[in-house]
Amino acid sequence: ATANIGVVGLAVMGSNLARNLASREGNTVAVYNRSPERTRLLLEEHPEAGFVASETIEDFVASLSKPRTAIIMVQAGKGTDAVISQLTELFEPGDIIVDGGNADFHDTIRREKAVSETGINFVGAGISGGEEGALKGPSIMPGGSVEAYKTLGPILESIAAVVDGVPCVTHVGTDGAGHFVKMIHNGIEYADMQLIAEGYDLLRYVGGHSPAEIADIFVKWNEGDLESYLIEITAEVLRQVDAKTGKPFVDIVLDEAGSKGTGVWTVQNALDLGVPVGGIAEAVFARAVSSHPEQREAVQESVTERPEPVDVGEGFQDDVRKALYASKVVAYAQGFDAIIAGAKKYGWDIDKGAIATIWRGGCIIRAQFLNRIVEAYENDPSIPTLLVDPYFAKAVADGEAAWRRIVSTAALSGIPAPGFSAALSYYDSLAAKRLPAALVQGQRDFFGAHTYKRVDMPGVFHTLWSGDRTEVETEGSSH
Ligand code: 6PG
Repeated sequence: ATANIGVVGLAVMGSNLARNLASREGNTVAVYNRSPERTRLLLEEHPEAGFVASETIEDFVASLSKPRTAIIMVQAGKGTDAVISQLTELFEPGDIIVDGGNADFHDTIRREKAVSETGINFVGAGISGGEEGALKGPSIMPGGSVEAYKTLGPILESIAAVVDGVPCVTHVGTDGAGHFVKMIHNGIEYADMQLIAEGYDLLRYVGGHSPAEIADIFVKWNEGDLESYLIEITAEVLRQVDAKTGKPFVDIVLDEAGSKGTGVWTVQNALDLGVPVGGIAEAVFARAVSSHPEQREAVQESVTERPEPVDVGEGFQDDVRKALYASKVVAYAQGFDAIIAGAKKYGWDIDKGAIATIWRGGCIIRAQFLNRIVEAYENDPSIPTLLVDPYFAKAVADGEAAWRRIVSTAALSGIPAPGFSAALSYYDSLAAKRLPAALVQGQRDFFGAHTYKRVDMPGVFHTLWSGDRTEVETEGSSH
């Protein structure tokens, strides 16, 4: 036994993570892949890593020093279950199995329960940052037991991204907490991407700017509040020119957005938790709408007249920037609400500030912005929504007029802006003194005797709608 850590699954993410581990002082990394060709290739390409390679899972396990620690980097789902059961057979109590894939946190809860019954530790760890992050320093969101983290933590800290001297990894909570938080990260990632895309669309088709000009605008924005990895890479994508046609790259890409599912999971779970995440949901739906070409074509054929883009003046660019920022604040506020609700439901003690801290670097949504969230939770750990944190409240108030102009400009110009508008409606819903929910309660009581509460006295009531329409007080709840 010579390796202190092992990696199973050597596709790009696994190989890069293994290389990252091997590059850190004190690590000897065992590697194993189901098909040995890939292992051989990795060894050939990276002799400097000093990998301890095995062609059978038994040899792989034998090459690990105790407590054995192995990170599984195979495609989420059945493949993961197969590797877990192989390792569970061969590992001993005290050893640690880490699933570094994008697992559904429900699976992680189930797997942790089954594996921990054998005395082996199971850690579901969300790993963000794509291929480059895996190689150079990802953001890591491990769940599992505190005991497992004692062994695993220092290894993960050694490979994670570092911001202001702080590694982007923290013990998120027990069992599925890490994968849950990774899921929310991805939901926010979808929202962030969609909002940037809407900003681009408006700048292009209302503002009249070319992709290259918009790249310049985003580069400028990247020096301010919006500074983020996603803004940075968006500028690069927009600047790209297609070699085959000489056209902007963005114009030759088919406009149907794919998705592997984590964003969808965020919304599904938020629905189950009763947390309104409209900003995130609209980002998921926007991808879904884009991927229905048959409906899009049918409507394009039937709609003969489209609105002209409205004339906009000097301030338009800055309005878009402000609308984007305000909408982004909403998406993050909703994401953190989902984390709070998930933590409550599943019994996780999640430190929100610590999550914002480890998202500052390594991951796809990395940004200076996360520091503001850290501060918000430092100031008030039980703040009802990030929107009332003094910094965010001011940021949104400062951008509010621009936000409204942009949503109305988009509507008048026929440019879809589901992310911007959903975020603004959410904000307005929270800010409104009265909501038409009162009328919905009336409708529910009318057709289903679902009852309602009154503003002026305690109790639960029902109006005899099909009788004399007098009000009766009822037992039970108004829900
Ligand atoms: C990350 C990414 C990564 C991946 C997702 C999203 O944090 O590194 O989120 O996990 O890109 O699978 O991909 P989809 O857009 O296909 O859902």
